[in-house]
Amino acid sequence: MIMSRRLSRCFNVNDLRKAAKRRLPESLFAYIDGGSDDERTLRGNTSAFDQYDLLQRALVDVSTIDLSTTVLGQKIDWPVLCAPTGMTRMFHYQGEKAVAREAALSGTFYSLSTLATTSIEAVGAETNGPKMFQVYVHKDRELSREFVQRAKTSGFDALCLTVDLPAHGNRERDLRTGMTLPPKLTLKSMLDVLIHPAWMYRYLTSDPIVLANVEHKISEGTGETSNLLKYVANQFDPTVSWKDAEWLMSEWGGPFALKGIMSVDDAKKAVEIGASAIIISNHGGRQLDSSPAPFDVLPEIVDAVGGQIEIILDGGIRRGTHVLKAMALGATACMIGRPYLYGLAAGGQPGVARALDLLRSEIVLDMKLMGCRYLSEVTPACLRKR
Ligand code: GLV
Repeated sequence: MIMSRRLSRCFNVNDLRKAAKRRLPESLFAYIDGGSDDERTLRGNTSAFDQYDLLQRALVDVSTIDLSTTVLGQKIDWPVLCAPTGMTRMFHYQGEKAVAREAALSGTFYSLSTLATTSIEAVGAETNGPKMFQVYVHKDRELSREFVQRAKTSGFDALCLTVDLPAHGNRERDLRTGMTLPPKLTLKSMLDVLIHPAWMYRYLTSDPIVLANVEHKISEGTGETSNLLKYVANQFDPTVSWKDAEWLMSEWGGPFALKGIMSVDDAKKAVEIGASAIIISNHGGRQLDSSPAPFDVLPEIVDAVGGQIEIILDGGIRRGTHVLKAMALGATACMIGRPYLYGLAAGGQPGVARALDLLRSEIVLDMKLMGCRYLSEVTPACLRKR
């Protein structure tokens, strides 16, 4: 795939972030980039990795590096999964399909969100790569049953239930910009769109943006002026409990992950109900501000349930070194959301490829410098606490 000069001049995830900022109307960039309240957790998710240094081991033959591992029953080529993210076609018209294709090409999982703008069936038809469907339980419980059936029929390999959104976080950047789906045309937002003509052209010439997996049941949230906050308040079921997680897991009957586990107690409950994996996550700092970083709670969760359940770390990853620090502390794999969205917004499918390639190349180079050939060699002995 041909890479534009814009993308080839992005040398890390942060460069892609800056490119995305230039390409997107302000409200859309703010929606991807922002967190809740004072964004303390958002910042902490990344800075937590600085508590540790990586140690180098000399004179090891590092001519071949093997990053492969097995997650949720699928062998993947490297230990970074693409997280579910909502509304993806808003950021680039190629949307979810572009991310799913690139995830498959790079040999890792793609996760499709309940709040996606591309349907389960369309993503299923797009790739044979490992795929996970992410569920938000709606008040209309039939929808959950329907998601399970559709994900099975469309060849999804795993299901994940997000458990950290009983209510929508206080995302003040979105309140300020008035982020709506589709964008509401106020004078301010019109000007914002007009100064981003490339985005505007694609927006006007592509299929209308809808919440593709729920629109047949729920018109609200897919209408002109509704926003996500209102959608979640009206449609999500705040009564969801462990019993419901067990029910969903048994309906699915395959590899099942709980996303948004942040404590030892909850990790133990996930083991008790027989989940295949937990995804340690605070929703990218978009929900409870002042929640610790996933990386902060990783060691205690590994101590309590390591070996009994797969442990995926989600949040704050911007560098290969971050992935390696998480792996060294016992994570089974990691998950990224914003990094691939920045790539997508910066340049469509080639931008996603660039984000994944950069992270993967960093991991390979760092492993060489650390004298590690396999992920199994990335252990606590590779770390030194500051
Ligand atoms: C939705 O899941 C969001 O974080 O915006």
